[in-house]
Amino acid sequence: MMHSSWAGDAAFEVQLHRLLCNTAPPLNAAVARWLPGPMEVPASTSVPSPNDQTSWYRYQKLGRLLHFVSARAREGDADAVLRSIEDFVGDANQRWLKVAGGAKSEVVAAALDAAALREGEVALEMGCFVGYTAIRLGHLVSERHLSKPGLVSTEMEALHLCISRHHVDLAQLSTVAEVWAGHIPWATPRYVEQFGDRSVPFTFMDHKGTRFHEDFRDCRISGVLCPNSLLLCDNVLKPGAPVHLWRHHRTASPGARLFSLTEFREPDMEDWQSLLYNPPPTASAFLERGAERQ
Ligand SMILES: C[S@@+](CC[C@H](N)C(=O)[O-])C[C@H]1O[C@@H](n2cnc3c(N)ncnc32)[C@H](O)[C@@H]1O
Repeated sequence: MMHSSWAGDAAFEVQLHRLLCNTAPPLNAAVARWLPGPMEVPASTSVPSPNDQTSWYRYQKLGRLLHFVSARAREGDADAVLRSIEDFVGDANQRWLKVAGGAKSEVVAAALDAAALREGEVALEMGCFVGYTAIRLGHLVSERHLSKPGLVSTEMEALHLCISRHHVDLAQLSTVAEVWAGHIPWATPRYVEQFGDRSVPFTFMDHKGTRFHEDFRDCRISGVLCPNSLLLCDNVLKPGAPVHLWRHHRTASPGARLFSLTEFREPDMEDWQSLLYNPPPTASAFLERGAERQ
């Protein structure tokens, strides 16, 4: 899916969506949205794998979320889509759904605000899942009336991609908030290719803590980050981002802050978010970049 989105090969994406319909029937509503014409579910030709049973439970749970949200949120009402995802976690007691809600969402919104997105710039999210934070950021960006998209969120799981696009579309934010298919770091070079040097003032990393330091380095080397751009990372305590913390937060610095918060709807579960101002690119970053390109 990533290669087809990059090459703009829509036909290949449609083919993949048809296959996904076969993989996860409870999620057909989200997947079928991206198919032209009536959905034809192909006859099952796949050989069952040992992972099938676990996937089946996972897809059932995600299917329940889709039902829950579509029964409650009106089309075009971003706040209602956000609220219904939150209610699903709380009221329906579905704590497995990890999104940056509650106090975490306030930090996310404040950090985006501090980044002060300008015309031609774009905010990045890494790891979209069901589109919760993408909708929040997309909604905030849309209020600034800048060129589109104002937010790009990258997701590597094909079904998460369909579900997040479905939710973003339900909130009528698809033109502001694009969800790209891709595995960070393979997707990272596309940012600078599409938006140019110094075009990203804000990055929210929420994909894999053990990769944060490497993916941040790749973004810096690519030249896509604006001078003084902000990097906000989630879940840096649990599951943890040890190398990122050691590299950027082991000593107090005015450009780096840690927030101790609790997980959304889990008052006994502490977690941290980290905020880092990226200093303007140094000469050595440019040399590194030159060496990478050779
Ligand atoms: C914690 S969830 C993201 C939640 C989302 N940011 C929110 O607040 O609504 C993490 C997501 O990152 C995705 N992910 C994990 N590793 C990734 C990678 N290397 N590239 C892209 N996405 C990744 C997972 O599939 C999952 O959907």
